[in-house]
Amino acid sequence: MQIDIITVVPELLESPFNHSIMKRAKEKGLLNVNLYNLRRWAINKHMQVDDYQFGGGAGMVMMPEPLANAIDELQQAKKYDEIIFMTPDGESFNQKTANSLSLKENILIICGHYKGIDERIRQKYITREISIGDYVLSGGELAAAVVVDAIGRLLPGVLNDETSALFDSFQDNLLAPPVYTRPADFRGNKVPDVLLQGDPKKVEEWRHEQSLLRTKERRPDLLDEE
Ligand code: ADE
Repeated sequence: MQIDIITVVPELLESPFNHSIMKRAKEKGLLNVNLYNLRRWAINKHMQVDDYQFGGGAGMVMMPEPLANAIDELQQAKKYDEIIFMTPDGESFNQKTANSLSLKENILIICGHYKGIDERIRQKYITREISIGDYVLSGGELAAAVVVDAIGRLLPGVLNDETSALFDSFQDNLLAPPVYTRPADFRGNKVPDVLLQGDPKKVEEWRHEQSLLRTKERRPDLLDEE
C-alpha cells in the first residue's frame, strides 16, 4: 500500500513511521509513506500557501492553487483510491473505517492547517473527510499519523502474529479482554486461574465474557452498533 501525505510541516510526520510496527511495515515493503511539502507548490518566492479569508475573520485559509497543483501533479503519477482531508468536521474515524481503508492500494492524505482549506478544493478533489475525535488539533498531521498507524498495522504480514489484529479492541464492536504476563502472583494479586490451566476453549470463553463485560461497563454504545 502506498500513502502519500501533503503537509506544510513534514517534520511532524517523519518520526511516527520510522519506529516499531510502522518501520517493519516499511522494511517489508508492505507500506510506503511519502511526505510532500506543500510549499513546493507555493504561489510565490515567499513560499506562500495560505491567505486571509474572504468575508473577514481571524485565521488564515490554505489557498486552492498550491493544493490543486500538488494534487494534480501527484495524480498524474498514480490513481488514488481515496483523497482524504483530515478535519475536525469530518466523519468520525473508527476501526471500521480503518479496516476498509486498509484494503485500498493508493491513498492521498491532505493535512489542513490554520482555519482549514478553501472549500472549492474539498468539493473538487476530496473523496473522504476524516476526524479523529471531537477536539481541534493545531493541524491535521497528528491525526494523519493516527490514521496511517491504524491502517498500517492491519496490512497482512505487518504484525508478527497475523491473527492478533483480529482480537484488538473494536473488532466485532467489543473491547479487548484484560491481559496478564508473568509473574502469576504479583504482590499478592493473582492471575485468573483459567489462564493458567491450559484449556484453550475455556480461555477463549473467559476472554469473550470479559470482553462483553468490559464493553457493557465502558462502552455500551458499541453493543448497539451493527
Ligand atoms: N485537524 C484538526 N483537528 C482534527 C481532528 N480532530 N481530526 C482530524 N483532523 C484534524
